[in-house]
Amino acid sequence: MILAPSILASDLGHLADQIASVERGGAGLVHVDVMDGRFVPNITLGPVVVEACRRATRLPIDVHLMVEGAERYLDAFVDAGASSISVHVEAVSHLQRAVAHLKTRGVKAGVALNPSTPLGSLEEILPEVDFVLVMSVNPGFAGQVFLPSSVDKVRRLRETLRDRELGARIQVDGGVHLGNIRTIVHAGAEIVVAGAAAFAGGDPERAVVALLEAAG
Ligand code: DX5
Ligand code: ZN
Repeated sequence: MILAPSILASDLGHLADQIASVERGGAGLVHVDVMDGRFVPNITLGPVVVEACRRATRLPIDVHLMVEGAERYLDAFVDAGASSISVHVEAVSHLQRAVAHLKTRGVKAGVALNPSTPLGSLEEILPEVDFVLVMSVNPGFAGQVFLPSSVDKVRRLRETLRDRELGARIQVDGGVHLGNIRTIVHAGAEIVVAGAAAFAGGDPERAVVALLEAAG
């Protein structure tokens, strides 16, 4: 299991220190939430922040694009140093083109699903993606409450991947905490994002250690 702290919940005035802290704790990815004020209500981070992360750590940078027409920005985030990028199926008109483009640029390609978006929307694209991001909150803000129905969604996706003999990894994002991470991992998630649970307590290193332990 890979823990991916979301820097949206970090103290951005001390970004490099915050990243160093989660890296010491055993984080495997740095998750960057990009929001455009259209697809989601909030506006957050852009390519310059990805560049800053790239300079601060050797960990791979995972970019989550909550952006209408995200295909316009793929190259900017690859150039900034992203190692993996996810786009929302609800926000991209030509999803296959976006996924194929990411792969030609040498980054891992992910597709993200809002809580109300059915797994069936992945049917055609599933063989081409490196990972599926199952949102366990409605995207827009860190610190929201985990939607319990996400666990069953992860289980069903895990079964589909097994039945179709596909290797896409499952990422879960939103509302993860010490009390639910084990259930999420047992359901089939291999990459787990944590925002508030990693950063809000003020000691990100210790929080990451505790989350990894709780994951089992
Ligand atoms: C939500 C973002 C998440 C968020 C996670 O829209 O995509 O990555 O920052 O934060 P927590 O873990 O606090 O829900
Ligand atoms: Zn995210």
